[in-house]
Amino acid sequence: MKVSIFDRAQSALKNISERLGQWANTSIDTVVVLGSGLGQFAETLVDQVVIPYEAVPEFVRSTVEGHSGRLVIGLLPESRRLIAIMQGRFHYYEGYSLEEITLPIRTFGAMGVRSLVLTNAAGGVNANFSVGDFMLISDHINMMMKSPLRGKHDYRLGDRFPDMTEVYSREYRQLAQEIAREMSLQLQSGVYMALQGPNYETPAEIRMMRMLGADAVGMSTVPEAIVARQMGMKILGLSLITNSAAGMGEHPINHEEVMLTGERVSRDFTDFMTRFLQRLSSSGQLISEPKGQAR
Ligand code: HPA
Repeated sequence: MKVSIFDRAQSALKNISERLGQWANTSIDTVVVLGSGLGQFAETLVDQVVIPYEAVPEFVRSTVEGHSGRLVIGLLPESRRLIAIMQGRFHYYEGYSLEEITLPIRTFGAMGVRSLVLTNAAGGVNANFSVGDFMLISDHINMMMKSPLRGKHDYRLGDRFPDMTEVYSREYRQLAQEIAREMSLQLQSGVYMALQGPNYETPAEIRMMRMLGADAVGMSTVPEAIVARQMGMKILGLSLITNSAAGMGEHPINHEEVMLTGERVSRDFTDFMTRFLQRLSSSGQLISEPKGQAR
């Protein structure tokens, strides 16, 4: 008999918990999924426990270059915040089902993590964007045309018809804007459109996507966001514009360019992420500074 997603997540949770070593009894505050080229942020965590995805039998195998495929769990520097980083993610184009690629998110949800950062590499569809810009995801369009929630409903996973009016937390977006201002970091904002991939788009497709309201285009994030919202997690979505979308730039798109852009902005990204995570409480809420009050 097919094992349910709920049971697979429970079993993955058990497996991971047994490998957490010194962190076995500490709860994880936030999960951060790192997109192509952004993997370096994981190196900053202190007292790391590293769990390769292969060690979790319930997970599928990552097949993409630049996604090393491991969980890195450790403290955010100078804090007691325990963070789990997914260095590499699973993609629909690898041939797995949307249920399978979102299993890690289900697993962290089952652990009780309430707060999720989803990052990705994306092509810039909005002509005002430059390569190397970050874009806050304000909303998404699911052009994968499939939902990870399709199938017989299991109430233990959440609602049958979860609301998607605010997938990417307004509060998190405001905090991200505030931090970008502090850093004098250019932070764009816009709609992320997800396609199945793995081929990049044609120029005609990109023109269509712009008409439909896309600012950036990529091959991930949306299934994870849908699953996380069903479980009631709060989400920050962040795209790195690694290239101009097809037909908009000088040359064809290639994966090397995507990875190189990630490396180029990796210091800003690390600084931004660290500041953002430092300002979340253990339950994923904003730690607000009392304004105009003596402390
Ligand atoms: N299209 C789709 N996915 C991408 C792109 C792109 O141009 N760049 C990085 N991921």
